[in-house]
Amino acid sequence: MNDINKWVEKDHYQLHPTYHPKSHANPLVIERGEGVWLFTVDGQKILDGMAGLWNVNVGYGREELAQAAYEQMKGMAFTSNFAGMTNLPSIQLAEKLAGFAYRGLNTTFFTSGGSEANDSAFKTARYYWKRKGQPGKYKFIARRGAYHGITLAATFATGLEKYHTMFGPALEGFVHIPAPNAYRFEGTQRPGETIGQAAARALEEAIIKEGAETVAAFIAEPVMGVGGVIVPPSDYFPLIREICSRHNILFIADEVITGFGRTGEWFALNHWGVKPDILTFAKAITSGYAQLGGMQVSDEIRETMETAPENEPWMHGYTYSGHAMACAVGLKNLEIMERDNYPQRARQLGQRLLKGLETLKEFQFVGDVRGLGLVCGVEIVADKDSKQPDPALAMQLFKAAQANGLRLRPLGNTLAFSPPLCINEDEVDEMVSRLGATMDGISR
Ligand SMILES: Cc1ncc(COP(=O)(O)O)c(C=O)c1O
Repeated sequence: MNDINKWVEKDHYQLHPTYHPKSHANPLVIERGEGVWLFTVDGQKILDGMAGLWNVNVGYGREELAQAAYEQMKGMAFTSNFAGMTNLPSIQLAEKLAGFAYRGLNTTFFTSGGSEANDSAFKTARYYWKRKGQPGKYKFIARRGAYHGITLAATFATGLEKYHTMFGPALEGFVHIPAPNAYRFEGTQRPGETIGQAAARALEEAIIKEGAETVAAFIAEPVMGVGGVIVPPSDYFPLIREICSRHNILFIADEVITGFGRTGEWFALNHWGVKPDILTFAKAITSGYAQLGGMQVSDEIRETMETAPENEPWMHGYTYSGHAMACAVGLKNLEIMERDNYPQRARQLGQRLLKGLETLKEFQFVGDVRGLGLVCGVEIVADKDSKQPDPALAMQLFKAAQANGLRLRPLGNTLAFSPPLCINEDEVDEMVSRLGATMDGISR
């Protein structure tokens, strides 16, 4: 069964996400995983520095999660969760999540992933403003560099042009502002202003330009992931919260990557004492063992929804909303993460990872190293003075690291780290030393 060519040939029957024949020419064919390690059909052992796609927080091969799925599937894998029916695991998980991330966010709607969660948030924001008698509030402000997913609305909330180019025309009503990127800020900074203040001012200016009476919500990832692991300055989100409240605009936090411990807090806005009106999550709610995501809304939004007349229900939902097996796995996954105090692990081991990665700044092509908890980015540049991005070199390093048994993710010119939170100290050091050895081997 380990004839890799046979599997690669058969793999042609499926289309892969972000597919191009060149980028899928030599795929890794993964057979199994254990902890932070992946094993391919042709015998490679790879340290998964990305926890799959930022999501396998408890690591691979957890029997407890397999057992939870088995028990639930044996009894009843699925029933409809549309109004008029419910099931026990979705009730229990929603109860567990009430107030878990932020006080005052006690209502959960389940989806199968992060894109659906964000679409749900956009539609709910519009529904909310119609209920409040302000139907003109329909626009969304997001940041350049943001990634919010792949449904049509999430695509155009995303602030990365390559996701738009072949799928236009763009949806109307999505506006983008500069991200709070301390290494290369694209906005304008006034004398005496911090980057956090300048980036927050960009939001206020966009609201005024569009007209607050037309804006439904602002959406942001607390730490930008796909856009290059951008950790915001600490004054940014408190200012954002204040601006959204003052202009009567909902704040949607997309914690699809940062939720469930990754940054060293259960949810990342807690680093700055800030609370959103709508929270979206996915990925690590099940550590990737089942397809589950969702959104939480504030009590005020929930109460407003309750005022709807019967002929104007919230006509939204998916076949797999509140999927019984996925919710059962989510419950067990949360139990494991709480039992082993994963946010604290992420905090401690994240500091170790960041310290290790900072030693790589000795290379002329390492422009910036940043991170929060166990999500870090190493930005590759042509040289430190010009800061000119070098995505070709980042790609070369990614491929060479993979050949050295380390899986990272090249995001433009940034190499991302987001390992399983079950990683231990030796494995953290191993990631750093494998990347260091890879950099040593690149002649520049
Ligand atoms: C911040 C963020 N939001 C949304 C999504 C979309 O989630 P999904 O791929 O589960 O639809 C992602 C996926 O990587 C993400 O990183």
